[in-house]
Amino acid sequence: MNILVTGGLGYIGSHTVVELIENNYEVIIIDNLSNSELFILDNIKKITGVKPKFYNEDLLDLNKTNEVINKHDIDGVIHFAAFKSVSESIKYPLKYYRNNLLSLINILRSMDENNISNIVFSSSCTVYGQPDKLPVSENAPFKKAESPYSKSKQISEQIIEDFVNSNDNISSISLRYFNPVGAHDSGMIGELPIGIPDNLVPYITQTAAGIRDELSVFGNDYNTSDGTAIRDYIHVVDLAKAHLMAIKRLNNSKKKNIFEFFNVGKGTGFSVMDVINSFEKINNIKLKYSFKDRRDGDIEEIYSDVTKSKNILKWQAEKNLDDMMSSAWKWQKYLK
Ligand code: WQD
Repeated sequence: MNILVTGGLGYIGSHTVVELIENNYEVIIIDNLSNSELFILDNIKKITGVKPKFYNEDLLDLNKTNEVINKHDIDGVIHFAAFKSVSESIKYPLKYYRNNLLSLINILRSMDENNISNIVFSSSCTVYGQPDKLPVSENAPFKKAESPYSKSKQISEQIIEDFVNSNDNISSISLRYFNPVGAHDSGMIGELPIGIPDNLVPYITQTAAGIRDELSVFGNDYNTSDGTAIRDYIHVVDLAKAHLMAIKRLNNSKKKNIFEFFNVGKGTGFSVMDVINSFEKINNIKLKYSFKDRRDGDIEEIYSDVTKSKNILKWQAEKNLDDMMSSAWKWQKYLK
């Protein structure tokens, strides 16, 4: 089976490529290196013994996308390629809408023109906004998106739904990620934030490495057990395995024209302090941090109901918070 992975050198993409190769899939990567680095391709080879076919192309160029797809007999697509910084999307909304929506439209057009049926789409728990009920399940409504990034994911899911409804030959599964953290056990692939990290865990590891002076904890006045905000952190390797189950489900399904979406989280909520305490304990490191005001756009609490993923996707997360924190630190030390 040949799987095209867009954004396959990125954080979640590269971990998914490793899982696909280790399950005997042929992987073809399209990545424009806007948020990834080429050494990840070499490290995928070091981990798996296989160097996947790689094309440094931008999905915004439909002709180039078609040229790549025409070179291979593609059985399915996993579409990661998108910008994903919440704060940057607030500063540059048009950049986010153009890139994230046009890339998706082009890959769907190219699938249609090349008779490729199956797509797994990288969606996000941010499509829910601040849910009324927790844990949040897939039938929760899309509430007001907190950022253009989140809105681009809401719109993307709707584009896919409309396209599946218009075309009997297309099937899709959208995976709504919660908070992916950690790194591959090898310590050779992981998150590569550009500049100052937006996200909690890379900021923690860079503080521990002395790259940042101190971690700011954004808000300790939330209505939670320790006052800090709660998220559903999931190990990136568990998340990668969910993509394997999704592409398998599409490739093995007798039913055509599938349109499904699943929560992909641990199914538990951890506060910022839980994460800090786990990092300090498992790595035997004292972290420098101080409490600051809440960050704009942050919600108080979210964690997933993963019943549907367990029952239908036959997937559930296995790694715990300590695994996430020890693997994140191992990767940071590799980057030194
Ligand atoms: C987590 C918590 C912060 C940084 C992310 C992705 C988004 C989506 C969901 C996939 C919050 C606090 C953070 C720091 C802090 N994933 N924090 N100090 O905002 O939940 O969103 O996951 O689509 O793309 O961005 O994750 O890691 O930024 O924040 O206190 O320096 O950590 O306030 O409570 P978030 P995050």
